[in-house]
Amino acid sequence: MKKIVGKHVVIAALSVLAGYAASAQAADVVGNAKAGQDKVAMCIGCHGIPEYRTAYPEVFRVPKLGGQNQTYLENALHAYKKGDRHFDTMHAIAASLSDQDIADVAAYYAAQNAASKNNPDK
Ligand code: HEC
Repeated sequence: MKKIVGKHVVIAALSVLAGYAASAQAADVVGNAKAGQDKVAMCIGCHGIPEYRTAYPEVFRVPKLGGQNQTYLENALHAYKKGDRHFDTMHAIAASLSDQDIADVAAYYAAQNAASKNNPDK
């Protein structure tokens, strides 16, 4: 089963994610940008592509995350997770993230700027 290539990676990532049950409800969750860096691999497939346009499953625009406000990003992910903000793919992704994951990826993206290495903002 090693024939996963290109756009199928996103599907594979989503199926794997569906298996994780994110249940940890920690109080005082503090985002760690460094930890977040290891957690954004699955985000880059969509949020880091030229022109911020996906090719699959259909062409649509994806928002740029790098450099956005940390609290805004956290709130957006929690909203997708709870279903307050509707977008199927992002709901599936956010539902797979723990509160700590959300804080970490938000910290990571908020810390990006034009000078960052491997900046998903570029
Ligand atoms: C399959 C493509 C895809 C993947 C993978 C993906 N996203 Fe998204 N994301 C989108 C799209 C499309 C939107 C815009 C949805 C909307 O209009 O609400 C979005 C919206 C967002 C937003 C809201 C941004 C804003 O400006 O309001 C955040 C935050 C976000 N994604 C974070 C993430 C993170 C973190 C990951 C990885 C853990 C991730 N996304 C993975 C497609 C994706």
